[in-house]
Amino acid sequence: MDQNELKKLVGEKSVEWIKDNMTVGLGTGSTVYYMVEALGRRIKDEGLHITGVTTSNRTAKQAQALGIPLKSVDEVEKIDLTIDGADEISADFQGIKGGGAALLFEKIVATNSDKVIWIVDESKLSQQLGSFPLPVEVIPYGSQKLFAKFEAKGLNPSFRKNDQGGLLLTDSDNYIIDLHLGSIDHPHELAEYLIHQVGVVEHGLFLDMVNTVIVGRQNGPEVLEAR
Ligand code: 5RP
Repeated sequence: MDQNELKKLVGEKSVEWIKDNMTVGLGTGSTVYYMVEALGRRIKDEGLHITGVTTSNRTAKQAQALGIPLKSVDEVEKIDLTIDGADEISADFQGIKGGGAALLFEKIVATNSDKVIWIVDESKLSQQLGSFPLPVEVIPYGSQKLFAKFEAKGLNPSFRKNDQGGLLLTDSDNYIIDLHLGSIDHPHELAEYLIHQVGVVEHGLFLDMVNTVIVGRQNGPEVLEAR
């Protein structure tokens, strides 16, 4: 199986955790795409009653097209379960997310969820975080100053570009600065530093947040319980 087939495998597997009448957080990305398609099929075939809370305009568009009823995070009392992808997961179940630039809504939805499942192909697992560039969402005003500060601190920043070569805008009209770190020895310390920099809206370190990881392996999906 290639990487895409592994993503499809875990996307389709993950909807087994969705039960009738749940409010479900719907993540973002190419793996989540398969989960949302499979959820749409279950709603159609089984008459499941689900409320979806999406994490990006992209996922909202897909879910709407499939007839999945949606509410915003502020309109629901709680989210029973969120299923999302991840860019890198360490051996102690810490994660980097935001490769699809949706980290802000993804973190808001995840932190308001009773349970969080990440669905990944096996290439996303690593011993220690840092091989995937760490996304930091920043407001445009003052972002050059923040960039210079990150550079001076040796965090190897780069502004995320869009397909036209301009600066990429998130769904909230912010910029993304990616930090090319190689390895992150102390993720909690780094998270503390980043969130306290004025102009930083959110960062892609998702620490102590996941309950279950479904990994796409060549011999089938493997379910790992984080805590
Ligand atoms: C989007 C994310 C995605 O979950 C992450 O980038 C994984 O994406 P994919 O499933 O396409 O590999 O964090 O902001």
